[in-house]
Amino acid sequence: MSSQNTNNSYGWVAKTFHWGMFLIIVGQFWLGGNFKEEAYRELGLSGYHFSIGIMILFLMLLRFGWRAKNPVPELPEGTGKLQALGAHGLHILFYVLLIALPISGIMIVQAKGGSPSLFGLFNFPTLVDKVDSTAELAATLHGVFAKVTVLSVVIHIVMALYHHYGKKDNVLRRMLPW
Ligand code: HEM
Repeated sequence: MSSQNTNNSYGWVAKTFHWGMFLIIVGQFWLGGNFKEEAYRELGLSGYHFSIGIMILFLMLLRFGWRAKNPVPELPEGTGKLQALGAHGLHILFYVLLIALPISGIMIVQAKGGSPSLFGLFNFPTLVDKVDSTAELAATLHGVFAKVTVLSVVIHIVMALYHHYGKKDNVLRRMLPW
């Protein structure tokens, strides 16, 4: 399998980004969703949520660079303009959300006076000063972005299954790892 995308299939790099990041993001949602649990604090899991989130930010930038340099496989012939626009819009929305989520998360921690790092390797540059109202706003945004991401993923999965079982085209198959 080629590393590069073609006009009708994804290469292994795009597939690894897609499925690898899917697994990482599912774990990240679990960590984020349990943030307020006491056991969570005792195990010190918040640091993992911060580090994995910062890693997701860098991976998204790399992934975006890869996407920009590779052809995006076309939708099957006969796909309506509105549907094509919807699919494209949803993919762009994922990039925006998966950059906005880590940035707002970093802002929460910094606005509370903390300094999140990437697994202790380096601390993320300061984006905001320590201000309570900024922390509150960033936390609200972080929660909203997380909910919009879940909703978008549900639509994305429903559409992939509709292509596979309803339209019986190769849209799902060309992103499968096998
Ligand atoms: C793609 C990356 C990320 C995802 C998917 C994600 C997801 C989540 C989710 C689902 C929650 C629970 C939200 C709620 O119940 O309102 C949460 C909470 C939180 N996340 Fe993230 N997160 C990400 C990145 C980050 C990063 C990079 C940081 C900090 C460096 C961070 C810091 C926090 C904090 C502090 C909370 C608790 C917010 C509060 O106190 O209400 N997150 N995250």
